[in-house]
Amino acid sequence: MDKLNIENQMEYLDKIYKLNNNKKLKYFILTMGCQLNENDSEKLCGMIEKMGYSKTDNLQESDLVVFNTCCVRENAEEKLFGKIGEVKLIKEKRGTIIAIGGCMMQEKHIVDKIKKSYKFIDIIFGTHTLHQFPKDMYESVVENKKIEDILDIDGEIIEGLPIVRNDNIKASVTIINGCNNFCSYCIVPYVRGRERSRDPKDIINEITDIAKNGYKEITLLGQNVNSYKGNGNLGIYTFADLLRQVNNIKGIERIRFISPHPKDFTMDVIEAIRDCEKVCKIIHLPVQSGSTNILNKMNRKYTKEQYLELVDKMKKNIPGVVFSTDIIVGFPGETEKDFEDTLDVVSKVHFEQVYMFIYSRRVGTPADIMDEQISEDVKHKRFNKLKSLAESHIEENNKKYLGTIQKILVEGKSRYNENILTGRTETNKIVNFEGENYLIGKIVSSKIISDHMWYFKGEVDDNGWVFANDAALFGYKKTI
Ligand code: SAH
Ligand code: SF4
Ligand code: F3S
Repeated sequence: MDKLNIENQMEYLDKIYKLNNNKKLKYFILTMGCQLNENDSEKLCGMIEKMGYSKTDNLQESDLVVFNTCCVRENAEEKLFGKIGEVKLIKEKRGTIIAIGGCMMQEKHIVDKIKKSYKFIDIIFGTHTLHQFPKDMYESVVENKKIEDILDIDGEIIEGLPIVRNDNIKASVTIINGCNNFCSYCIVPYVRGRERSRDPKDIINEITDIAKNGYKEITLLGQNVNSYKGNGNLGIYTFADLLRQVNNIKGIERIRFISPHPKDFTMDVIEAIRDCEKVCKIIHLPVQSGSTNILNKMNRKYTKEQYLELVDKMKKNIPGVVFSTDIIVGFPGETEKDFEDTLDVVSKVHFEQVYMFIYSRRVGTPADIMDEQISEDVKHKRFNKLKSLAESHIEENNKKYLGTIQKILVEGKSRYNENILTGRTETNKIVNFEGENYLIGKIVSSKIISDHMWYFKGEVDDNGWVFANDAALFGYKKTI
């Protein structure tokens, strides 16, 4: 990203800030889709707050509304059109500026629809022009223009944007933009462009900074994190190198990453996960289907057997490792036998968590024009069958936690009960327990005393420990 452009954008931020001075303007932002989009929204919030707006959860009182959209499945798109109707009235009442950005705006047929049917939208921006939001805002506010700021070519890597993070214990850091894989069902490569890895120096600086600000957990983000390619700065060339370096950053206590692709899961990555004590030993390893025939049609570049071998190899090399996954049911041409193969993989791996999706046709992808699209009825039946199998495993698995001592990163107070703290195990299970506020942001050891489908109850007993920065331990006596 050329420095001049960023400086230019910062000047626009200042100009709008001066215009907005003392007006106490508010903004509302709705983010749809994945954590990469959430991370983009954190940067949008960073820019918007520097323009003098403060955040509100109340759409009715907002002077600026931003929708950061997703188009990975049809229901994500429907959500946007529902919301646009709602904001029209607010705009009529108080002249609210309405901006729509993100992945959906990289689809021409969607932008055409918005321009034709929703003429009151002020700003449309794409995934490659996020950093130009200050200029877009300036031209909309001052020059009263309708803005369409969308690029078809891959955007450059943007560094140095202001950021307001959603959380103060866990932070996400994008390490690679775009995707080169073109799985045949997936729209992401068309709306996010080709893979572009960030300079390792920028990543390490960002995480060091995050750690200095007291964050404890880092999630490295990318559509395909293990195809990360460093330029050699700080000796980082590969994803494995990056994991090892992030593991050395003082203050960070947990490292997660999403999503790796099974085809790029090389031995050096497995060894890095094994060696780095801060890397959580739960790996999200999207399988998508258990049928080699369907995997081939999906262009996933591995077979059922190769996936299972990879899982075995990781189990052998990384003590205690567990897995979560993504699965699509009802891909074109999926037979009962293919679906049985998916159930078979689920039974063999015993995932901690399965994110299940019903196949959704995406305009412009190869799968959309494949013959043998599966009926909605069959898709739903298969989805429900997979769901009950996956949930029975989760229930069974949850029992294994009963009575064990788990390390919990305490995230805050429970939303439902003031007196209860909530946190997560290394394997991402929610644990609620009684405890005092000073434990927030610390890793405590807790005994699991009861299990529910989606959360556990824990107890930090008199012999409990708080695991402080850099694993220096000090005792914690329960006083309540
Ligand atoms: N890059 C990541 C995931 C990106 S999208 C990966 O490859 O794992 C998140 C998930 O959405 C995918 O893993 C897939 O399971 C699901 N998905 C993507 N396109 C879909 C479609 N057209 N219909 C249904 N689910 C889809
Ligand atoms: Fe989509 Fe496949 Fe890329 Fe993931 S790896 S974003 S599923 S094309
Ligand atoms: Fe959706 Fe874009 Fe993420 S399509 S899943 S928000 S990369």
